[in-house]
Amino acid sequence: MSDKIAYERHGDIAVLRIQNPPVNALSQAVRAGLQDGMSRAEAEEGVRAVLIVGEGRAFIAGADITEFGKPPQEPYLPDLCNRIEASPLLVVASMHGVSLGGGLEVALGAHYRIAQPNARVGLPEVHLGLIPGAGGTQRLPRLTGAEAAIEVITSGRHVMAPEALELGIIDRIEEGDPQTVGLAYAQELLDSGATRRPISEMPGTAPIDWDAAYEAAFRKGRGQISPAQAVRAVQASAEEPFKVGMKTERQMFVDLMETDQRQGMIHAFFSERAVSNLPELKGVTPRDLHEIGVIGGGTMGAGIATAALLSGLKVVLIEMKDEAAKAAHERIAGNLQGAVKRGKISQDKYEALTTEALKVSTEYASLSDVDLVIEAVFEDMDVKKQVFAQLDAVCKPGCVLASNTSYLDVNEIAASTSRPGDVIGLHFFSPAHVMKLLEIVVADATAPEVVATGFALGKMLGKVSVRAGVCDGFIGNRILATYRTAADHMVLDGASPYQIDKALTDFGFAMGPFAVADLAGLDIGWATRKRKAADRHPDERVPTYIDRLCEQGHFGQKTGQGYYIYEKGKRGGVPNPEITRLIEAEQKERGITPRDFTDREIVRRYMCAMVNEAAKLLGEGIARRPLDIDMVLLFGYGFPRYWGGPMKWADLQGLESVLRDIESYATEDAWFWQPAPLLKTLVAEGRNFDDLNKEAA
Ligand code: 3HC
Ligand code: NAI
Repeated sequence: MSDKIAYERHGDIAVLRIQNPPVNALSQAVRAGLQDGMSRAEAEEGVRAVLIVGEGRAFIAGADITEFGKPPQEPYLPDLCNRIEASPLLVVASMHGVSLGGGLEVALGAHYRIAQPNARVGLPEVHLGLIPGAGGTQRLPRLTGAEAAIEVITSGRHVMAPEALELGIIDRIEEGDPQTVGLAYAQELLDSGATRRPISEMPGTAPIDWDAAYEAAFRKGRGQISPAQAVRAVQASAEEPFKVGMKTERQMFVDLMETDQRQGMIHAFFSERAVSNLPELKGVTPRDLHEIGVIGGGTMGAGIATAALLSGLKVVLIEMKDEAAKAAHERIAGNLQGAVKRGKISQDKYEALTTEALKVSTEYASLSDVDLVIEAVFEDMDVKKQVFAQLDAVCKPGCVLASNTSYLDVNEIAASTSRPGDVIGLHFFSPAHVMKLLEIVVADATAPEVVATGFALGKMLGKVSVRAGVCDGFIGNRILATYRTAADHMVLDGASPYQIDKALTDFGFAMGPFAVADLAGLDIGWATRKRKAADRHPDERVPTYIDRLCEQGHFGQKTGQGYYIYEKGKRGGVPNPEITRLIEAEQKERGITPRDFTDREIVRRYMCAMVNEAAKLLGEGIARRPLDIDMVLLFGYGFPRYWGGPMKWADLQGLESVLRDIESYATEDAWFWQPAPLLKTLVAEGRNFDDLNKEAA
């Protein structure tokens, strides 16, 4: 027997207890142990039932994802599930914590399922670019019907035990030690003369409009293929005998395993977990966090305060004047009302948060007890320095002083205080209570436990925290500035903003760059262009047509007109003919003959610009690992998860081909397309970004 499975006899019942921490993933040793355990139970005198149960925090979290991409090893999971189901003994699964993917499939191989009230089940394979591959698409619909099965499989969501009971996925809910309640249930079934109940022998599900379901899953997946494939697999459960359906599912699973999307999504899964795991912080204890201060209750300050309140922190918010303080309170209350509406908090909780946990003040002295302060005032170095001087004067020793600046030099801010070791950048994304990304900007003097406290705060707030160094725009906004410029150049040369937006949303981005600019406000870019105009390199190509629109007072969505025209009450906008006219005028002025771009070229240039700038950031040490950059783009910039991030995308293309394209673009514009030295080195050495991730692990 494998040491991953404990075998015990309890009267007529054999218990197979899975011991594979942390989440009982179905590694080869677990699969082999379960198979051997079934054989032993069947061979032992007097055994009438088998109970499968997990030790620790979960029943089973699914197939062992670390084995994906390697040659599969026997026993294969689908065979194991069939083997369990075919046993002459009565098989019961007692589920607690999560039963996901292959974990639920093992449970569906059992004849009866009992679960803890707070147990969660699901088939999240689509989030890894796959479909369930051990009978999930064949057995689940036989229990729930096609529609519910498709919803559960294509969303990959976790289904809570009460809903699972309603859907017929589990048979009973009972609180208690999973093994104890499982044994009692198995005994009760034996005593009542219950018989084996293999799902494979149940009739296939009734047909639905399969093509409509396929189309819907395809649209919702925004270019991701696995959800739509899952619909076809469920269709097979209705149209084919069980055994044939299993083969159909297996073939689809194996085919998906070979795709770039599977690689991208599994890279995202592991990177999301590795990103806040910094070797330099091992053994460093973060400072305690109970109460935080927020300076400025505008868009960002209110969002940050909301996120902190929702995570259980007390908040003191400072505004300049009573009126602004009142507006900030209203903004936060509005955000929290949204949480009540979405069922995230109760009305009582809302009252407690807005009256007891939140204090809004115009007095900096109210900050004397807070453990950490986040400054979110205007983006102006002089204003920030004044604020930090006041913080330096009132905050207790050991209080972390953070700035939410988007671009400014955190070293300069730190140097303006008497305690630069306590100063850090905590760069949230708008809306701060919704967006998952947090850039933790480490300045030259920032103390390690202050960095650890930044990560601890990120964890409390449920953020994906990424370490960044100090530079103009840190990781995300610096890369954004570069790929936005590549898009601007394409507009000057003949691609319309609308073709570019469409090509990039087809690639999988949530929004194209010009729709994003309209949303963020065109005045922001306009102000930046004016600020930077003085130190511009003579070879830098900066379009001015959009400044003409700003001069007319049009700043995007908030004024109703930008690259697009927005009508009240309508979602999205329609192309603005004035933009086309202004672009044509600028092309004429510059003597440019516009040329055609294919969508493929648009995507390629945009992505190459992104990768090249990212490689420069890595070379400079602003980002430590390629995966850090991938997570910034995924969680802050709407990058399609199924590509894993720009660095993973580049690896999948082959770095040599990416460098070749950058060098060919450099023949037209050598200033903008200077290849990143790191990219050249990696290509010369035959290595890629993933090698760098592995070396840093
Ligand atoms: N295989 C291998 N490792 C896994 C794993 C899995 N299925 N699930 C989780 N882990 C690892 C994590 O990488 C992490 O490792 P680390 O500590 O070294 O970083 C550790 O277990 C703990 O995981 P989390 O930090 O995510 O812990 P949480 O408590 O936050 O979440 C979880 C637990 C809900 C189980 C979450 O990890 C999760 O969603 N896991 C993936 C579940 C999944 O996708 N299952 C389907 C797999 S595909 C499949 O089964 C195919 C089949 O149909 C053939
Ligand atoms: P905002 O203009 O909406 O809010 C700023 C608030 O600060 C105002 O309410 C103002 O009254 C207050 N304020 C100004 N000086 C103050 C002082 N001395 N003491 C107390 N309060 C003061 O600005 P927004 O958008 O919230 O931005 C704030 C900061 O966050 C800026 O540094 C910005 O670059 C950064 N940021 C903004 C993002 C965005 O999308 N808006 C995203 C990430 C960072």
